[in-house]
Amino acid sequence: MAFNSSPIFLFSAYVIIFIPLQIVMRFGFFDDENKEYVITNPETPRSWTNYLGSTDFGSVITNHAGGYSFFRSAAQGRFTRLRFNSIPMDQPGRYIYLHDHENKDFWSNSWQPVGKPVDQFKSVCRHGTGYTKISAEYSGINSEVIYFVPEGKHYECWIVKVKNDSDRFRKMSLFTYVEYAGNWNAQDDQVNLQYTQYTVKMTAKGNLIDHGTNVNLPSLPENFEEKDQGRHTFMGVAGALVKGFDTDREAFIGPYRTYANPLVVERGECGNTEAAGDNGCGVFQVPVALQPGEEKEFVVLMGVGSAEKEGAEAVATFDTVEKAKVAFEEVKNNWHRKIESLWVKTPDASFDSMINTWSPYNCLITYFWSRAASLIYNGERDGLGYRDSVQDVMGTAALIPSEVRERLILMLSGQVANGGAIPVVKPYAHFPGQMSAPKAEEYRSDDAMWLFNAVPLYVRETGDVDFYQLDIPFADQGSATVFGHLRRAIEFNLDRLGAHGLPCGLLADWNDCLELGQKGETVFVAFQLRYALKVYGEIAQMLKQEAEQTWAAEQLAVIDKNIEDHAWDGEWFLRAFRDDGMKFGTNEAEEGKIFLNPQAWSVISEYAQETRAEQVLVAVRKQLATDHGIMVCTPPFVKTDYRVVRATLMNPGMKENAGIFNHTQGWGIMAEAMVGNGDQAYEYFKATSPASYNDQAEIRQIEPYVVCQSTHSKHSPRFGASRVPWLSGAATWLYFSATQHILGVRPQLEGLEVNPCIPSSWDGFECSRLFRDKKINIKVQNPNRNCSGVSHIVIGDQRIEGSLIPNELLVDQMEILVVMK
Ligand code: GLC
Repeated sequence: MAFNSSPIFLFSAYVIIFIPLQIVMRFGFFDDENKEYVITNPETPRSWTNYLGSTDFGSVITNHAGGYSFFRSAAQGRFTRLRFNSIPMDQPGRYIYLHDHENKDFWSNSWQPVGKPVDQFKSVCRHGTGYTKISAEYSGINSEVIYFVPEGKHYECWIVKVKNDSDRFRKMSLFTYVEYAGNWNAQDDQVNLQYTQYTVKMTAKGNLIDHGTNVNLPSLPENFEEKDQGRHTFMGVAGALVKGFDTDREAFIGPYRTYANPLVVERGECGNTEAAGDNGCGVFQVPVALQPGEEKEFVVLMGVGSAEKEGAEAVATFDTVEKAKVAFEEVKNNWHRKIESLWVKTPDASFDSMINTWSPYNCLITYFWSRAASLIYNGERDGLGYRDSVQDVMGTAALIPSEVRERLILMLSGQVANGGAIPVVKPYAHFPGQMSAPKAEEYRSDDAMWLFNAVPLYVRETGDVDFYQLDIPFADQGSATVFGHLRRAIEFNLDRLGAHGLPCGLLADWNDCLELGQKGETVFVAFQLRYALKVYGEIAQMLKQEAEQTWAAEQLAVIDKNIEDHAWDGEWFLRAFRDDGMKFGTNEAEEGKIFLNPQAWSVISEYAQETRAEQVLVAVRKQLATDHGIMVCTPPFVKTDYRVVRATLMNPGMKENAGIFNHTQGWGIMAEAMVGNGDQAYEYFKATSPASYNDQAEIRQIEPYVVCQSTHSKHSPRFGASRVPWLSGAATWLYFSATQHILGVRPQLEGLEVNPCIPSSWDGFECSRLFRDKKINIKVQNPNRNCSGVSHIVIGDQRIEGSLIPNELLVDQMEILVVMK
């Protein structure tokens, strides 16, 4: 905690006035140049995390080196342990303990788990893109561990450095630690103990430890979901001699002790134990003798495969620390390359910290792990939830377009022949053409609607218009082109219209808590469907499919009429009709009078324009906007039966019960930007942007560099507190709305559009955008301090009216001047 000022007292003849100045509560800072967030005070209100790895191998790591590692799935491939939501926080993890043989003192490189007094122990954690670097200064010894996953590898690499900064000779031992699962199936490992306490077989040989589970069974690489199969992981040390090992957790920790004082670390000597059953761990003792000023480095490798084969290969690949450092730079550069597809410099440094690093990085991590792996998501929500994952590609289309293409193919093959979607696609267990279609009551009404945002976005980004003609199988039977898949998606909802001619809500309609009943209708999805028909018509026109274009226009007119006739409440749009006729989101109701989704989407779908758009946006500002974001609805549900709205299960002001659901904040920003209100769009951005809270981290409590699922609203006593960091649709929509609507840098099929909607206080900004392999450098001038509207574009001595730079003029490294009206 840093106090930047103290209260001041003003004395006057009669009164003493107490003026409390703002207290800055900050735990770290944005190092924009290195694209790192640097935590300088380890006593963060909650553990602040990061991720390592790729879609094949993932690791969650906290600022205290807590966390776990998994292969392909945090639910079915989890091979190291973390005890979720436990006390102490975020344990165990990947530790390096240090023991000083001179005085038998010991500590851990990460402040926790030993937790030396912070006035004697300096801890710095640098969370970077795909790596975390934790360093300590204590007792004249400096240490540092860099954790990362080398490109394309299925193992972590820890580069360990220890330096003697004292003026005397020091004899130390360093100990590695991870705790292993008894089964890669996370649930079994933590719950089915009568089984998983008998399945571990640990062995150690030289500088390699083998962690085996169910070792007598064959391995079944083709059947990842089968939990009962032989599996191995390894830990190896390279670049240093090991003196001993322990693989039996109980022997290492000792009875009635904790990770804060393991027996072996206190003693300073391993016992060379090999666990058979019970709990395995990976401990190597690396002795280090250091003259004053001397330093020593070595590498720890930990990941998937047997010690004998993959472990030996890993140790041979990184037999010198230099090779590991090269691999580290490669990881760093690869991440930077991806997120640098857009770079910006605006008058607001915290906007830039988000947009240049953390927002795109957050999008990539969310895209990788959907809602399955964090300190909160413990693997229980395995696989790629359909609606969430289709939205997630929107945040990454500009960053990793070819991977996004593959992901879209996967998700389109998760659509069933009737146009609906299977709720979860598991990449490692998905067999298009062979999956069973959901039961009628299991469909969500919004799932496939998100394709109309994601697919055209990918095509506009890449210019890959042929994608629409690609034939892709349905999950259950048959196949169609991508264009055909889109048609089926629309048909799915048109085939399921209710009494007012609006789409039925089915099991859920984005909001998992509204219990509309199968025949209830959703106004939100009506706007999605309108948007879908509009987009489909545009694609049909581009593909010269006139009959389809006409069909889309006819259907659109019908839906519009139904919306006009039934969805307006007088001051804003209704949210939904339950199948018993009850209305959600009406001024007549006591609870849930107004919802954000239909207001924002009435504008996004271009249904509400001019006066109507202004009317709904005013309603949002007046009824739903707060200092920390826009509430999903208000007032909260307290009396309404939970079978009508499950939100009643939650406390008021939390999550779907009138909380600030961050997934939706980008929609608020987009809607304001679409009507040209840059000041309001920016205000919404600032209210929700994590970086806005860096100097008041006590409000949000979670990482000031990542989004979160929801923030407590003014209806909660914890107003502003934010929960469920990292994995949220908030990542995508914040990045998308900030880049394509505030900055207004929008790929179009015909070229790159630059059509900003910025706060009137900005006199412009600079940015560069990688667009179809060309780097375009853009300078925006806002001479009249307007929010929106482009007068013209200047390229060299050429002047173009409007905001589009046509494809023919796009050249790598070109400079463009955009002059606002
Ligand atoms: C969670 C779910 C998402 C849903 C939202 C609103 O974020 O992951 O699918 O749309 O809640 O209920």
